[in-house]
Amino acid sequence: MAEIERIAEVAGYLWTKGWAERNGGNISVNVTSLMSEEEKTLPALCPAIDLLTPMEVLSNHIFYVTGTGKRMRYVAQDPFANGSLIRISSDGKSYEIIAEQPIVPTSELPSHLMMHNYLRGLGRDIKVVVHTHPTDLIGMTHCKPFLDSEKLTRTLWSMIPESRIIVPKGVGIVPYEIPGTLALAEATIRQLEKHDVVFWEKHGILAVGEDIIECFDAIDTLSKSAQIYMNARMCGYEPEGMTDQQLDDLVPAFGL
Ligand code: 13P
Ligand code: ZN
Repeated sequence: MAEIERIAEVAGYLWTKGWAERNGGNISVNVTSLMSEEEKTLPALCPAIDLLTPMEVLSNHIFYVTGTGKRMRYVAQDPFANGSLIRISSDGKSYEIIAEQPIVPTSELPSHLMMHNYLRGLGRDIKVVVHTHPTDLIGMTHCKPFLDSEKLTRTLWSMIPESRIIVPKGVGIVPYEIPGTLALAEATIRQLEKHDVVFWEKHGILAVGEDIIECFDAIDTLSKSAQIYMNARMCGYEPEGMTDQQLDDLVPAFGL
């Protein structure tokens, strides 16, 4: 399936960017529309696993998900030895692993599925959630003043026009929570009401979208902005940043 090749391509980028130490980060992609009727009914490879909360909107949907403890650099080489296809039950209360091997999904599955369930419930055709650990963006969440969505968005937007254009809804922030928990998932959902990119304080970042390359591009562009900001600070000056007027002028120019 071509989509699996694109997942492998992006997994490789996450590793080469230095955003995926050991098993850092995870990916889920809704591949339901790409599966034949025969593939959709593939037999389960192991007993059904209960979900912490029901995902009614995702009834019978099929996802590729990276495996827990698996390394992005190996997902890039062999997506099905480091991830699996899972099928949500028709009542949305459990899932089964259906291909190709019984690889246990990421520990962030509650967050990923809650995001897919919430966004699809709003009628949005969101297929992808990418979570990764970019050094520069995580670094910014260690600085109290940036734990404010407006302040962080304004700073990143103002470093280069592309940030304003490519991440038009800005970024949300979730205060630190233990990875893999329902609390983290629930707090993330609240940020997705307004944003498609969310920072997890002192942990990582995630992007949701229709397309995996676009999710990667959003994070990559923000990372570029963070690097410009931090390089300026390391050289001993506060970067001037684009003015409000310059940022506002992008809105009509790019139809934002
Ligand atoms: P997994 O290996 O379970 O996907 O965890 C990695 C991670 O980044 C947790 O937030
Ligand atoms: Zn993580």
